[in-house]
Amino acid sequence: MTVAPEGTASLPEVVESKDGLRARLEAARVAGIAQGRPFSVGLVPTMGFLHEGHLSLARRARVENDLVVMSIFVNPTQFGPAEDLDRYPRDLDRDLSLAAGEGVDLVFHPSAEEMYAPGHCTWVDVEGLSEVLCGRARPGHFRGVATVVTKLFALCRPDRAYFGQKDAQQALIVRRMAADLDLGVEVVVCPIVRDADGVAMSSRNAYLTPQQRARAPILNRALRAAQHALESGERDAGAVKDAALKVLAEDPPDRVDYVEVVSADDLREPQVVRGEVVVAAAVFFGATRLIDNVLVKVP
Ligand code: PAJ
Repeated sequence: MTVAPEGTASLPEVVESKDGLRARLEAARVAGIAQGRPFSVGLVPTMGFLHEGHLSLARRARVENDLVVMSIFVNPTQFGPAEDLDRYPRDLDRDLSLAAGEGVDLVFHPSAEEMYAPGHCTWVDVEGLSEVLCGRARPGHFRGVATVVTKLFALCRPDRAYFGQKDAQQALIVRRMAADLDLGVEVVVCPIVRDADGVAMSSRNAYLTPQQRARAPILNRALRAAQHALESGERDAGAVKDAALKVLAEDPPDRVDYVEVVSADDLREPQVVRGEVVVAAAVFFGATRLIDNVLVKVP
């Protein structure tokens, strides 16, 4: 543990081994219970290079739990062979001081070898939900996510775990998985945090050139056009999608992976929109893939 400079919150304890994490959590539970009150653990899983989106999850976890654990682990099994695993941005020192500012107690920062022992061959597959939207362009991605999150849940046995609506499909998959496998974890989904120009915060925004960053707000503008169409009474999913595509055509991203209108609870595409829907999109600026979504309740 590093000593924080005067005037700053002390840095969270960093644990790199699974045994260390279990031992530390067990000690905290025993100490908490010894004080004769219920003791709750909140987990915030991340891949680091923290921004305000991650911090909003930590803030909520801090309010709702006695102990807050943040994991910082760039999970290799959720990256495809041609994806950005090697160049994914990392800055542990900066992450630790940001986590300290939110009152995170413990940071779990394992190596890939620590997390995945040789011979690892067990996977968690959330069928159906994993194959649509981002799952189509990123085969195996959600299997990697569901597996690592299951392992983090098993290691931390949190009462609550915090995820962002920014990755709407991921949040839904994790919630489904926690329910299907009786993991006993409450999955809390927090709103998307955006920059002032509407761009959803993402560690991957760091890849954008200034020119690409200047074009990026078109993604959220397009989704808001779809939202506006729904709020103005449009119920035809194709027409809602077209409203978004029309905006994207004004200053097209380098590639549009998808724009979809799907039901918020099963990600199925309705022909006629009803209930709660997510308008989700993924686009590329250069090699950088950005995703965003809006949640709309249709009366
Ligand atoms: P990462 O991309 O680091 O995101 C960690 C958490 O922060 C996710 O739950 C994500 O939805 C949330 N988040 C990211 N940007 C956000 C924003 N702008 N507003 C609100 N929340 C935001 O998602 C992952 O890591 C990994 O897949 C992980 C779940 C850690 C498994 O490896």
